[in-house]
Parts: sequence; structure tokens; C-alpha cells
Amino acid sequence: MQKCRPGCYHAAVPADERALTDALAALDDHRDDELRIDGLAATELAERYDTPLYVFSARALDDRLAAVRAALGARVELLYSIKANPSLAVTGRLRRGGAGAEVASLGELHLALAAGHDAPSLRFAGPGKTEVEIAAAVALGLGTFHVESHDEIDTIAAAATAAHRRVRVAVRVNLPQQLAGARMRMGGRSSRFGIDEDQVPAAIERVGQHPHLDLAGLHVYAGTQCFDAGAFVQHATAIVTRAAAWERELGVPLDELDLGGGFGVPTSAGDPTFDLAAAGRGLGELIAAHDRPTRRWFVELGRYLTAPCGVYLTRVVRTKDSGGERHVVLDGGMHQCAAAAGMGSVIKRAPLLVHATDLRGEDRAPVSLGGPLCTPADQFAADLELPPLAAGDLVAILNAGAYGISYSPTGFLSHATPAEVMVEAGKARVVRERGDSRDVLRGQQP
Ligand SMILES: Cc1ncc(COP(=O)(O)O)c(C=O)c1O
Repeated sequence: MQKCRPGCYHAAVPADERALTDALAALDDHRDDELRIDGLAATELAERYDTPLYVFSARALDDRLAAVRAALGARVELLYSIKANPSLAVTGRLRRGGAGAEVASLGELHLALAAGHDAPSLRFAGPGKTEVEIAAAVALGLGTFHVESHDEIDTIAAAATAAHRRVRVAVRVNLPQQLAGARMRMGGRSSRFGIDEDQVPAAIERVGQHPHLDLAGLHVYAGTQCFDAGAFVQHATAIVTRAAAWERELGVPLDELDLGGGFGVPTSAGDPTFDLAAAGRGLGELIAAHDRPTRRWFVELGRYLTAPCGVYLTRVVRTKDSGGERHVVLDGGMHQCAAAAGMGSVIKRAPLLVHATDLRGEDRAPVSLGGPLCTPADQFAADLELPPLAAGDLVAILNAGAYGISYSPTGFLSHATPAEVMVEAGKARVVRERGDSRDVLRGQQP
């Protein structure tokens, strides 16, 4: 492991190329050395729409959704977690393909409605929903709140009473066991997320005391980037088992079970592949054993649905040598593609980054690639073996269709936000306009 700056480590890049070949294959067949998205050359898109640029493939999105729905089976209602990519075009396309949606803010709720979702079908999770958000969601007719604390139940009840509406709630459970195999865990110990298992009966009783609340069921979501399908099924089994016990003990039906998700997507060379078929088989057996006509089963996925359909294109601004190393400075960086620069990871691994016009180039040498920000954190890779890069060349980060702009510190250094383009049936269209460098002034007063 190499140290690239204090506190930051780059893992050595393993030889395993599967992650890269799969990511390329999701976009095109790539018979030559040029990166294409559904037949359109990345260089052509960069020329037409400028860089940095996000490109989404409608076909890759459709393919992914179809594969997930087929694997999980007809009894599972799939929810798209909008936080992964709050693009209206992406969210709308997934909706038309049959995915529901879960939201985590009022902004995401507005986006879901604009994408054509019906308010009653939407589910709202998140540990910090404010009174204002809750009241607005009730007024908009939101379907189900996933409650994460006891007093949130009272806040939702107050909003429901004030609006003279009945509101459905599902209790998000913090199970004592962690989601094994997840790179980022959000449960299984003291947590801001969900209600601890031993406090759930009290939460269920509290819901029952409010005449304007209906208990829909339970929700669990314990981590993201989980590469272990068996661990996901085990975790789902744990909540289904608890649900059956609480139904017996408390005498309430818990019809709706949202089993979470967090299926992993490779973002670095050598990353494993999530075994979707195994997850589907395991879930199928679980559902068969616990199904009933009134039951609804949900799985919520963000990254797994959208990451493979997206590419982040960025151009080389300049190259230089320093301290015996080759540096490549890009026009894009962590302010727009933060996860690829390691934000949120303890160990930084180089993202799936390719030379867009020399995919298979054999003449490789180590380079460090980073963006224009005034921080050493703005670095995608140290000593990544790539074909030679010169000013004007295009590089691409693959599997970048999730947690791109929405997970990035776009305000740092006040660059314009990148445009987003959707490629569909061989044609590209802008689905999010590029920002403007004067956007920094918007709403400000001297
Ligand atoms: C409650 C909840 N649901 C769904 C997701 C989406 O996770 P992923 O993008 O890994 O599928 C998250 C991510 O943080 C989450 O917190």
C-alpha cells in the first residue's frame, strides 16, 4: 500500500480486470479502443457538450432494471432510492420501467412527483425529517413514512391530525446484527438510523395510540456497497423473523416489509461482483416461506440500478512531472465525482478510470490524476498505469451513474456544475444543463 499524503492511502491496484470489462460492456461492445456509449463516441459527446460531463445510457439503465426485476421476482416491489442519482430523466425512466421510489428529503419528494410518481406510492425515510418536511409531505399526500425515532411518530401524527388525513408509517428497525459484507454500515449498533430492535414494540404501540396513523409494516436498511448476497438474504431473514414474532406478541399485522438493499457495484479494479442471482434465489425462498395475500415485499436500490449506466468524462488540462512522478491535471474532480476521489472511503482505491481513446493501450506508465481543486484530496488515483495522456485527451470514470453530483461538494471553488446527457437510441440529449460560473452569485447580497 502506498502513502500519497498524510492520512490517505491508495491500495495497490490488483490485476483482476473483471470490474473494468463489465463496466465497459454495460455501455457498448467496445470492439476498438474508443469508449462509446450506445454507439456514440465519448470524444464526440465531449466535443458537443463540453467537459466535465456526465453521460447516462438509457439502454444500460433499462437493462439493469430488467435484470434486477427478473432476479427478484414478481412479488418484490422495487423502489428506486433517488439519492443515488436525482436526475429527473433517470428517475422518470426507472418509473416507466416499473420501479417505485423512496425519498429522503422534500427535494427528492418533489423530484419523484415531477418524474411521474403518485404521492401515495412514495416512501419517505431518513433520520432527520423536520416538522416542515413532514407537514409538506403529508399535504402532498405522501404514502408512507419510515419512522426512525419515537418522537418522529408524534410529529407525523400531529401533522396528520392538522391536515385531517390518515397517514401510514413503517418502523425502520435497527437490528442488532450488522449487514456483513457492506463497506458502509448503518446499523447493528448504536445508530442514528432506525429504532433499536428492543424499542420497536414500544414504537409500534405508540403508532397504535395515534388515531390518524396506520401501521404499514417494517423497514430495514443497514448498509451500502454490500457485495455479499448471502449476507443480504440473512439480514432480510432476520427482519422477517422478527416481524413474525412481533405480530404474535403484539397482535398487530406487519404486512409491508421493506428489506432494504445496498447491493454493491464495483468501483475499483479488483472489486467483487454482487451475485444478483443468488440474492434473488435466497429472497425467493424467504418470500415463499412467509408470503400471504396481504403482504407486500419491497427492496430499495440506488447504486445498483444507476451506477453502471453512467460515465463521468473529464479532459486533461495539463500534465507535469514532479518529484519523479507524472501528474495529470483534469478539468473535473472530487467536487463533481467525489466518491471516485475516495470521499467516504477509509482506503482510497483508484476508480475505474480509462483513457477514452486508448482503452487497451499497452504502452502504459504510472500517473497520478487529480482535479483543479486546491486540496490534495482532489485526486482520483496515484500511480495508475495508463497509456500516455496529453492536454486535451479525454479520460472517463466508469460506473459513475450513482452518487455523482448528488454526493459531491459542488460548492468548493465555485466551478460550474457539469451537464448531464442521456443517450437513447443512438441520440444524445441534455437532461441537466451545465451550470454557469456566475451561479456562485445566485441569491447572495453584498
Ligand atoms: C435508507 C436508505 N435506502 C436506500 C439507500 C440506497 O443505497 P444504495 O445506493 O447502496 O442502493 C440508502 C443509502 O444510503 C439509504 O440510506
